[in-house]
Amino acid sequence: MKILITGAEGQLGKNLIYKKPIYINDKNLKIIQASKKDLDLSNEFSCKEFILKNKPDWIINCGAYTNVDNAENKKELANLINGKGPYFLAKYLSYYGGKLLHISSDFVFDGNSNEAYEISQPINPINAYGKSKGLAEELLLSDNTYKNIHIIRTSWLISNVGNNFLIKILELISEKDVLNVVNDQIGCITSATNLAEICWKLIKLDNNGIKIPNILHFSDSGICTWFDVASTIYEFINEKGILKKNIEIIPVKSNFFNLPAKRPKFSLLNSQETYKILNFTPTHWRKSINLLLDSLDKNILTKLKDQ
Ligand SMILES: NC(=O)c1ccc[n+]([C@@H]2O[C@H](COP(=O)([O-])OP(=O)(O)OC[C@H]3O[C@@H](n4cnc5c(N)ncnc54)[C@H](OP(=O)(O)O)[C@@H]3O)[C@@H](O)[C@H]2O)c1
Repeated sequence: MKILITGAEGQLGKNLIYKKPIYINDKNLKIIQASKKDLDLSNEFSCKEFILKNKPDWIINCGAYTNVDNAENKKELANLINGKGPYFLAKYLSYYGGKLLHISSDFVFDGNSNEAYEISQPINPINAYGKSKGLAEELLLSDNTYKNIHIIRTSWLISNVGNNFLIKILELISEKDVLNVVNDQIGCITSATNLAEICWKLIKLDNNGIKIPNILHFSDSGICTWFDVASTIYEFINEKGILKKNIEIIPVKSNFFNLPAKRPKFSLLNSQETYKILNFTPTHWRKSINLLLDSLDKNILTKLKDQ
């Protein structure tokens, strides 16, 4: 079985490769890793050529324009990469019956809810990035030609590699004495390790003929703010001796930073159905942080201690 991973150099892409099974059921697995140089989601011809040449059985689409603030000034590019790109993938997969596993975001919701978002709730994004992710969902689901599609909406992805909140906070703790962190956005982190496992499980179960819904929600369990996440990282690194540092972490409102993109105030996803269907024991968000800190790369640890 051939599986193509787009955006293979991003944090989810790397985790998928790290977590890859050797077999999917009894079939040998061949992974094709594509960076944006190999397959550019903003270019239909590039998608067509790469897909029809390699004919993967599945594409796991991790490629995306993920800078939420820059997307406000790059709406067209974000819409092309995040909105049209997944549709190009589905279109050329449909030529021979390949399947798409696409990753979407909690930012497709407006944040006006005060209960965890259900799959059935209507999307209503409030920033350019969310709109581009919403566009992909609409394009993929409105065309009946493309049946072999699964969309996993995830939230606040963090990992022990790449450009993400965990690594950023570690750097800031090592550099600063006072840290302001947003405390009025509520949701839950997702460890990229867990999301990678969910992606592989979905493909395995689908291959076994298990019916899986077109849209799933997946995050770690529990509920938190970014301030809770930063405070927990600080608590654990001191406990573990990763970095002995005394700093003050101050909870602030979102408007403190005056960022270009509005964020949903509340974007917790209800992932219960996914845990059940994919037979996955969820990890509480504090435990995920603990595990990620235990698996930090030596280079990152050295860099932190040198700062
Ligand atoms: N990060 C989060 O908090 C979060 C939350 C919810 C959902 N998601 C979704 O989860 C998925 C994985 O996110 P991630 O955090 O792993 O993202 P990431 O680390 O930013 O990785 C995205 C990858 O996509 C590549 N890419 C950019 N433009 C591309 C193009 N035109 N064609 C092909 N590839 C392109 C990037 O390459 P370059 O680095 O070279 O540009 C990068 O390797 C994305 O769909 C994202 O929208 C993320």
